[in-house]
Formats: sequence, structure tokens, C-alpha cells
Amino acid sequence: MWPYPKIVAHRGGGTLAPENTLAGLRAGLARGFRAVEFDVMLSRDGIGMVVHDPEFGRTVAGQGSVAQTDASALARMDAGGWYGDAFRGEPVPFYTQFIDFCKAEGIWMNVEIKPADGFDAATGAWVAKVTQDSYAAELASGNPAACPLLSSFSYAALAAARDAAPELPRGYLLDQIPADWQQQARELGAVAIHTNHKHLTAALAAAIKSAGYGLFCYTVNTPERAREILSWGVDGFCTDRIDLIGPAFT
Ligand code: G3P
Ligand code: MG
Repeated sequence: MWPYPKIVAHRGGGTLAPENTLAGLRAGLARGFRAVEFDVMLSRDGIGMVVHDPEFGRTVAGQGSVAQTDASALARMDAGGWYGDAFRGEPVPFYTQFIDFCKAEGIWMNVEIKPADGFDAATGAWVAKVTQDSYAAELASGNPAACPLLSSFSYAALAAARDAAPELPRGYLLDQIPADWQQQARELGAVAIHTNHKHLTAALAAAIKSAGYGLFCYTVNTPERAREILSWGVDGFCTDRIDLIGPAFT
């Protein structure tokens, strides 16, 4: 039900580096993390870039938006200066750079499809196609642990990913679990539910597990809470505090 790692670095390297950057992957690796969650959004010219916010200003210096900027320009923007001078000039990465790095270092990926408004289906289909092409051998191997897991809050993005690459596993991201979660998960062919640990209860966790789904939580930043949700049967979670919660945490 959950062949994937239990502890996953959130947005690259959690709080130890600017989020969604190659520096983040290096920071996670330096802590022994071989599992990462990050966000992918399409540029104006339809290329998947690793970035969380649709608008510039918080992590990417400047004004404007990802969906109105070409990939080559995004790759020249500063996504690290906000975090500290040592990271100034750290670019917005191409998704394919993250794939290359993770493949080279044996890092498992939870790829969150993060569409800008109006680009749900296009983003889901693009991410699924590129991931499927990059992991064709792993998919053919029949070893699910070797394959990345796509996830999204967007039903439309996941439906497009399912249609573009049905054999790639999908997790359905839900901030709060609605009453009809199982019907939606079934329609999407999801293998796992990803949810905000703040709204999860032991009873909901038990219901999801007994229905046969993997259960993954975001974003768990204290060891106490991590132990509590794991005791409920949660299979894995991502954390910003990779300094407090290591890859071998139990
Ligand atoms: O994928 C889990 C988590 O990353 C969802 O929230 O806003 O950090 O992308 P966010
Ligand atoms: Mg995310």
C-alpha cells in the first residue's frame, strides 16, 4: 500500500535551504534524505518548472507570474536570495533538472503538480508525460518503490495525469478529507491520500487505511506529532524540519 519512504523532505530541503531549488536537494542529501517532495508549475511556454507560488515576490525576486514568463527567463531568476546571501542567484529549476539530480543520487520523488489558475489539465498531462518518459525502465520493472508518485490538490490535473500516463501512481491531496473522498480517489485511480495532518483524526486514518489506500501527511514539523500520526497508521509524511526529523525517524 505504501512502498515509498516514510520520511520525505518538503519542498526540496525543508528549512535548510531555499525551497524548491537544487540547493535544497543538496541540503537534504547532506542530511541523508533520499526522498523529496516538490512543486511543479508550467511556464508560459509550457515547460514544467520547480516552484510553489504562481506569483513572484515571496521566493522568486521580482514582479509577475510563472504562467506569464518563459522557462528560459525563469531559469535566470533569483529563487534563493530571499533565504540568504549565500543562495543569491540560485535559479528556478527545470523539472527535468530535478529528475536528473534525483536519478543520479537515488532520491525518490513525490512530484506535486501545482497548476497555475486555468492550467490544471495542461500541467497534469505535461508532468505525467515527462515523468513517464524519464522513468520508463522503472515503470517496466514493476517495482513501485522505484517509481515517483505524482500528487495534486487539483482533481482536473490528476485526471489529466491519469489519462496521459495511467500506470504512473497518483496521490490525491486533500486539505480536509471530504465525505466523498473515496469516490473521488477511485475515479482518479489514486493509490494514496495525502492530507494535512492538522485535520486528520485517528478514525479518519483508520478508514483510509482499511479502504486500502496509502496515507501520507503534510507538513509535520515536530517529532511528537510525527509519532502520534504514525501510531494512527499513517504511512509517511513530509517535513520542513529535516534538522529535527531525520530520514530514519521512528
Ligand atoms: O505535497 C504536500 C504539500 O507540499 C502541500 O502543500 O503548499 O506545501 O505545496 P504545499
Ligand atoms: Mg507541495
